Amino acid sequence: MRDQAANLRRLVANKEPSSRIIAVTSGKGGVGKTNIAVNLALALCQMNYRVALIDVDLGLANVDIVLGITPRFNLGHVMYGQKTLGEIIMEGPLGLKIISGGSGITELANLNGWRLEAFIASFEELNQNFDFVILDTGAGVHRTVTSFVLAATDILVVTTPEPTAITDAYGLLKIIHQRAPQASVRLVVNMAKSPGEADMVADRLNSVLREFVQWEVDYVGHILTEAQVARAVAEQHPFLLAYPNCRASRSIKRIAGVLAGGNAPSEPLGIRGFFARVSGLLQI
Ligand SMILES: Nc1ncnc2c1ncn2[C@@H]1O[C@H](COP(=O)(O)OP(=O)(O)OP(=O)(O)O)[C@@H](O)[C@H]1O
Ligand SMILES: [Mg+2]
Repeated sequence: MRDQAANLRRLVANKEPSSRIIAVTSGKGGVGKTNIAVNLALALCQMNYRVALIDVDLGLANVDIVLGITPRFNLGHVMYGQKTLGEIIMEGPLGLKIISGGSGITELANLNGWRLEAFIASFEELNQNFDFVILDTGAGVHRTVTSFVLAATDILVVTTPEPTAITDAYGLLKIIHQRAPQASVRLVVNMAKSPGEADMVADRLNSVLREFVQWEVDYVGHILTEAQVARAVAEQHPFLLAYPNCRASRSIKRIAGVLAGGNAPSEPLGIRGFFARVSGLLQI
């Protein structure tokens, strides 16, 4: 009996902590991914979850702007041994931990051999268990974006009612459906004029998905176009904190509640395992 208990303890001790890894992504750019990623991460912090936010957008480091912080180091510094992971993590509001991908995102595709192993192993030192890791990704279907999206346990696709955004969301969803069967895939409609318009967008997308790929995405909510959201961006203060009672804040809290209440990932995944999977996808 005692041996069995010791074995169990060892197994648990060796087990990498597992997290829900939620990639916030879109087909078209500028639809609100960064704002949704930051405010969703904060809404989950308010629910007392341990949350990390990783900016894996190759383009502009928008997370910094929305949060009004300036990270000096990013995953690129960890890859080349200049910094440890612990040294690049920044502390955001409500205990949110922020990791900037920066140049590290392109470098990851070129890493191999012992460097890649050392980088992946560096996540072990992240001696901290997160309930949720939120990824703010770039838009579109380039490999540098899809590698992060397809490796996640949960995927949140953002679209607006604009026809081009809906078409690009459809293209992206088709790829996700084919290549990430393990993930829970959900849809948020942002910048809608009314709840009715948002519902129509979700219905339209789902009817096309049903017809052409016999599949549907789980529509989890909408955020209306609201002056406070744009104002919060200008003030570099997340809308959930600056305007906690605005409609967007109430919507994001509702969406966080749905996500947190959703099914746990079928396959446990820690940050280390996640980055191992991403680098595999990047090098295909
Ligand atoms: N619900 C909203 N109401 C009003 N304005 C919004 C809303 N959502 C986003 N915006 C505006 O759209 C802009 C773009 O949002 P955001 O940067 O979050 O998009 P993104 O998808 O991350 O863009 P990119 O593809 O460039 O990374 C914001 O600066 C903000 O002004
Ligand atoms: Mg962005």
